[in-house]
Amino acid sequence: MPKKTVRDVAVEGKRVLLRVDFNVPLQEGKVAEDNRLKAALPTIRYLCDRGARLILVSHLGRPKGTPVNELRLSPVAARLGELLGRSVEYTGETVGPAAAQAVEKLSPGEVLLLENIRFHQEETNNDPELARQLASLCDIYVNDAFGTVHRAHASTVGVAALRPSVAGFLVERELEVLTRILKNPDRPFVVLIGGAKISDKIGVLENLVAIVDALLIGGGMANTFLAAMGYEMGSSLVETDKVQTAADLLARAGTYGRKLVLPVDLVVAASMEAGAEHKVVASDAVPAGWKALDVGPETVLLFAGLLKDARTVFWNGPLGLFEQPPYDAGTNAVARALPGGGAVTVVGGGDTARAVKRAGVSEKITHVSTGGGASLMLLEGKELPGVAVLEDK
Ligand code: 3PG
Repeated sequence: MPKKTVRDVAVEGKRVLLRVDFNVPLQEGKVAEDNRLKAALPTIRYLCDRGARLILVSHLGRPKGTPVNELRLSPVAARLGELLGRSVEYTGETVGPAAAQAVEKLSPGEVLLLENIRFHQEETNNDPELARQLASLCDIYVNDAFGTVHRAHASTVGVAALRPSVAGFLVERELEVLTRILKNPDRPFVVLIGGAKISDKIGVLENLVAIVDALLIGGGMANTFLAAMGYEMGSSLVETDKVQTAADLLARAGTYGRKLVLPVDLVVAASMEAGAEHKVVASDAVPAGWKALDVGPETVLLFAGLLKDARTVFWNGPLGLFEQPPYDAGTNAVARALPGGGAVTVVGGGDTARAVKRAGVSEKITHVSTGGGASLMLLEGKELPGVAVLEDK
């Protein structure tokens, strides 16, 4: 790890601003999924145990610069307190006199959670004044918000440049795992990419096609590749402006001698309505007016065969309309086919993490990344702005 971490700074009695990613789903005013809270606990505990006066800052959702009651962090403070076994102060303010007062009251080892930073428009603009206000609250800055390190915002980049700034344990672990699979994977290295759109993932596909042994593609984005092969896709989602990009990627994969593996069969439906008529067809036989909503059983067998011998696997994105059964079947079956037995298996993105959990195969997974977008940006070979700004060792 080339960046300094919390181990490299003395924090006793210091005001430490810890950027966390507590962008978690809420339901009826409660935290519905607390993985991201749990993932931040080692750094929080480490800093509290060493007498830091700890100030946590996070975003939640995309409130577009104005306070939104449903996106307040009070339920998060309550759940974090339960997990930590100590009380977590909550101000309802992010910066300004009330926040400063709450910080002043903190004793060593105490924790304060500021209000949702995205209630301030200046956050996503990386506004220098907001960065300065955040910096005025702290002596040291720590970034442990791996899920947000791909964003150059005031709380991830602006403030970090104004204070001694280091990484937390979660950022350290995520970088270690993901950098290793990118730079030095045990082979065969198989990557499984799903999700609706190829346009969200072009960069990562372009970078990975030169590195992996096999690139398995599912989900809505596979339709655009199948269209590039000249198949009629009926009424399926196809990004017509990306068909050429898909064709270029197929050609590049051929040049590198890599396998770019597309679905050989699909589950198609007459409409997206729940309970609509659906059937399995070959990928080159999608009937006019029908939509591809999942990979078919032959594709599951094909993918499972390639995953079986893999020594490194990275998976991002569901292979079908996962949130609407029965179109979760392909994703669930492929999750069950992930290799165990010492293979390095890394899963990124909320849907994929849920699929793995639902399929009951969590124990086979080496690492569930807390950052879908951040892990993709890293695998794209790009620098993560929230990491680049931290101090070098
Ligand atoms: C995420 O959930 O992917 C991160 O918290 C980043 O959120 P964002 O996409 O709204 O920046």
